[in-house]
Amino acid sequence: MKFITVKTYEELSERAADLIAAQILVKPYCVLGLATGSSPVGTYKRLIEDNKNGKIDFSTVVSVNLDEYVGLDGTNDQSYRYFMNTNLFDHVNIDKSKTFVPNGCAEDLEAEGEFYDTQIKALGGIDLQLLGIGLDGHIGFNEPDEVFTAATHEVKLDESTIKANARFFANENEVPKTAITMGMMSIMQAKKILLIANGAAKKEIVEKAFFGPVDPKVPASILQLHPDVTVIYSEN
Ligand code: F6R
Repeated sequence: MKFITVKTYEELSERAADLIAAQILVKPYCVLGLATGSSPVGTYKRLIEDNKNGKIDFSTVVSVNLDEYVGLDGTNDQSYRYFMNTNLFDHVNIDKSKTFVPNGCAEDLEAEGEFYDTQIKALGGIDLQLLGIGLDGHIGFNEPDEVFTAATHEVKLDESTIKANARFFANENEVPKTAITMGMMSIMQAKKILLIANGAAKKEIVEKAFFGPVDPKVPASILQLHPDVTVIYSEN
C-alpha cells in the first residue's frame, strides 16, 4: 500500500487526478470505477481541466459507479447519476452510454445487483477504482457488518451515514434509507484502488482502516488485502 499524506485538499485532488489521467494515458480503453460525495469533487474538477486542455481524452473511457440511492432516478438532483453528470460527465468528452450507475429504481434490486456485477465482468473488470471513505469506514455503501458482502446488493444505510449525507438534502428525513452498492468482489477485483480522504474528522477511521485489523466492522480495512492500493489523505 502507498499511503500519501498531503497538506491541502487541492493537493489531494491534483495527485488523485494525475493518477487517473495516467491510467487513461496508459490504457485509453480503460474502465474507471468512480465515486460520488464531496471527496472526489476537486479531483473531477481537475480531470475536467485536463480534458479541456487536451491532456486527456475520455472518448474511449468506460465508467462504472459504486452506488445509487434506492428510489432516486437520474433526474433527481440528489441521485448519484445526477451528481456524476453534473460534476464530471457533462463536462468531458465521455460517451454517456458507456457510463454505468446502478439503477436504484429497478423493480428487482437483487436482479439489478447480479446484472451490475455481470456487466462489470463483461467489461473486463475495473482498471482503477476511485473510493472515498465514510466516517463509519464504509466504501461504496458497504456499511459495517458481521461479514464482507461480495455481490452488488441493496443495503440499509447506517444512521451515521444518513446524518453525514443529510448535508446534501433539505433535511435528514429526505435522505433515502436504502441504497444499492457495488459489493466487495467487484471492488477487490479492480486492478488498482485509489482511496481519497480529507479532513481531521476522517483521520481516525483512515488509521483504523489501513493500520488496524481487517474487520468487516471497518469495511475499508479489506483493502489491506488488495495488492495495489494508493491512499491519499489530506489534513484539510
Ligand atoms: C459515494 C460513496 C461513499 C463516499 C463516502 C464518503 O459514491 O461510495 O462511500 O465515498 O460516503 O463521502 P464524502 O466524500 O462525501 O465524505
